[in-house]
Amino acid sequence: MDTFHASSPAMQEGAFPREGSITEQLQFVVHYAALAPSEYNVQPWLFQVHGNTLEVYADLSRRLPIADPQGRELLISCGAACMNIQVALRYFGLQETLRLLPDSQCANLVARMTVISSHEPNEEDRRLFSALPWRHTYRGDVSPEPIPRSSLDQLSKQVGLEGAWIRFVEGELRQRLSDLILKGDRQQWANKGFRAELAQWLRPEPAPDGIPVSAHPRGGGRPFWVRTLNLSHSEEHTIQCALQQAPVLAILGTFGDSPLDWLLAGQALERVLLAACTEGIQASFFNQPLEVPEMRTQLQTLLGPSDYPQMILRMGYTYSTTPTPRRAVEDMLTSQEP
Ligand SMILES: Cc1cc2nc3c(=O)[nH]c(=O)nc-3n(C[C@H](O)[C@H](O)[C@H](O)COP(=O)(O)O)c2cc1C
Repeated sequence: MDTFHASSPAMQEGAFPREGSITEQLQFVVHYAALAPSEYNVQPWLFQVHGNTLEVYADLSRRLPIADPQGRELLISCGAACMNIQVALRYFGLQETLRLLPDSQCANLVARMTVISSHEPNEEDRRLFSALPWRHTYRGDVSPEPIPRSSLDQLSKQVGLEGAWIRFVEGELRQRLSDLILKGDRQQWANKGFRAELAQWLRPEPAPDGIPVSAHPRGGGRPFWVRTLNLSHSEEHTIQCALQQAPVLAILGTFGDSPLDWLLAGQALERVLLAACTEGIQASFFNQPLEVPEMRTQLQTLLGPSDYPQMILRMGYTYSTTPTPRRAVEDMLTSQEP
């Protein structure tokens, strides 16, 4: 793999404070939490460490009221950050207990992880950890090489471990899903509020959050264009090609649709993305129909009444990835309850 995250912890793995206190070790692990994916790279999380406990909070100042009015994707992102923490803790030989929300005392508290003992890392722990700095959302062309059934079965297993499901979409359903994605994209671009929100997070200049032009050249990466023009027409062809050529199109979902389910979806998402990355597979996302409420209902009708779609993924082999920057860890660590 030829690119590297500038502040990647892989560069700093040796800096893990093995002889330090648990508190110092947990603060170090926040570097890995920060590598989780989030819609528009808003990084909607805050972390607090006290003693042997690491708490994850939703940072509601980073909400996306138009693309994500329920805060569903916000919690998926926080769930992905929780997964990164668990993967890193186990790799560094620490066993934690995990308590997910809700917490009656603090509405923003998403998860509390307490280190309870040491842990002997196994092969799986090492494999998932090795992928942390290399997992990136890759929106460019992937290889047309099919992903073997045995690999897909392994990926399904990873998702199942977190209490979620993944469906690799083929045939008639794949066509209907592609149609919904294109329809959702058109509907989103026609909404001025959606364009204004997207424009707010596009980063033509280097920045610690938001989407850099290099990673997501939508609307030429120019906030002014995106805010002012409905560009869905000019982008439709690109999306169509990506969907037609995708070796794998998948829906990741849950069996319920509560905030807790959204967190589980985030954990499952990150777990499957890391496992895929160890095989040279990266994903990009086509969540448009899930961000338009009536279309999400339509998709659910196609799937089944107790199958709640949470993410739509395109997966394929690639070794050329584009990393997206992250905020400094100090900016994500808080000493007070947010
Ligand atoms: C809940 C969620 C929803 C996302 N939706 C989209 C999407 O619809 N389109 C897209 O191109 N990327 C989407 N992404 C990917 C993010 O833009 C990406 O994670 C972020 O820019 C950080 O980049 P990285 O994943 O390469 O670290 C989504 C990510 C998450 C976690």
